[in-house]
Amino acid sequence: MSNNLARPVTVVLVAAGHRSLIYAEYAKRHPDEMRVTGIVEPDPELRRRAADQFSLPEHSVYESVEELTQRSGLIADAAINGTMDKLHVPTTLPLLAAGYDVLLEKPIGISIEEIHDLQAAAHKYSRKVMICHVLRYAPFYMEIHKRVMAGTIGELLSIQTIENVSYHHMAMGFLRGKWNNKEVCGSSMLLAKCCHDLDLLVWLKNGVSPIAVSSFGGLQYFREEFAPAGSGERCYDCDIESACDYSAKKHHVEMGAWKTYLDPSYRLGYVPTDEELAELLRTSSPYGRCVWKSDNNVVDHQTVIVEFADGTTASHNMTGGVSKPCRRIHLLGTKGEIEGELEDNSFVIRHPDPRRGHEFREERVELGNVNTDSHGGGDLRLVGDFVRILKGEQPSASYTSLDTSVLSHEIGFAADRSMERRETVLLQERP
Ligand SMILES: NC(=O)c1ccc[n+]([C@@H]2O[C@H](COP(=O)([O-])OP(=O)(O)OC[C@H]3O[C@@H](n4cnc5c(N)ncnc54)[C@H](O)[C@@H]3O)[C@@H](O)[C@H]2O)c1
Repeated sequence: MSNNLARPVTVVLVAAGHRSLIYAEYAKRHPDEMRVTGIVEPDPELRRRAADQFSLPEHSVYESVEELTQRSGLIADAAINGTMDKLHVPTTLPLLAAGYDVLLEKPIGISIEEIHDLQAAAHKYSRKVMICHVLRYAPFYMEIHKRVMAGTIGELLSIQTIENVSYHHMAMGFLRGKWNNKEVCGSSMLLAKCCHDLDLLVWLKNGVSPIAVSSFGGLQYFREEFAPAGSGERCYDCDIESACDYSAKKHHVEMGAWKTYLDPSYRLGYVPTDEELAELLRTSSPYGRCVWKSDNNVVDHQTVIVEFADGTTASHNMTGGVSKPCRRIHLLGTKGEIEGELEDNSFVIRHPDPRRGHEFREERVELGNVNTDSHGGGDLRLVGDFVRILKGEQPSASYTSLDTSVLSHEIGFAADRSMERRETVLLQERP
């Protein structure tokens, strides 16, 4: 696409799913910067509703990427690919060959080999591929990154990050839902949930290679042998439902959580009633299954340890089933430390203060009232950066190209291998 474009950039949505539609919201809020000019979606109902939403004529709507790429000429400057994990690389390869730049959901792919194939294709066709590592665009992490790059705490020695996944998020996504089974989804829970946490480690190390990875974890609790006595196959036929914290009825009907995942047409304007939702959970919906009797086989907790080429160590803890969801970070540098929780939208910078009665001095950095939805507003800030790179403008410091994003995935795949084989995995140091 030509540089310094004055008109809005045009995009084709590949999938009218949850994530693509979040990114497409940018076009509604900034019509002078981005326009949706096409949709690829195999589901006829979702395709029709999405086409209505963006006022698209019949000839701009496709059932498959192959159908789109076989037509002559491009219908947009770029594609936003929000398909599920297994389809990321197979659907992006033809887009690159046809001439589209691509904003691609994370994880990039389901094996390091296919990710390297994608990287090779992006270079071959000279296409831009940006990965949706949205955490980099959350104000909390942007400010921490800025302070680290400015040398506020000296040289980094240690990075600790934590993602605590709530019991209802765990149940929806990783016990009952789309990411609960590695063979079906393609991704492990670490890659699906935390590749962008691993990306933060790489981003903060600013070009220093990760060289060794170890990991422990497993599916310890949500297994059939731990199903409480009296539990049924589905929450609506369960004798102990009223006493169960994992009841689908409580999560989805009473709390009203995760409704957009339960019924895809929800996000395109159709709002099912509680009765309709209850009927789905009672009968066909996978989200109505007992969390101990599902077909889940991904971990419920995992710890990853990384060594960087300069001796810095990092750890990431992913724990599923906590009461209060949150992401935490603690950084130790040669001159101080940073500690904070994403959901607080604030962090502290501490420096030693060895005077009598002091011990340390502390500055709290408040980021104001930032919405914690959409990754602290990061989702749309990321699309803004994609628009800038399409226009040939300078992206922000958060920009996450395919080439830099590969490193976090190398850590993720190495961690899973380490956990499964009980060995430390060595990674190749980049020049
Ligand atoms: N960045 C984040 O924080 C974040 C959060 C959640 C999910 N994700 C990732 O985003 C991706 C999408 O997740 P989602 O929840 O939006 O999924 P979704 O199920 O809501 O959407 C996927 C859509 O792809 C469509 N589809 C299926 N086959 C297709 C094909 N061949 N071509 C085009 N479209 C096809 C489906 O019909 C569906 O509408 C996943 O990879 C997921 O892991 C990222």
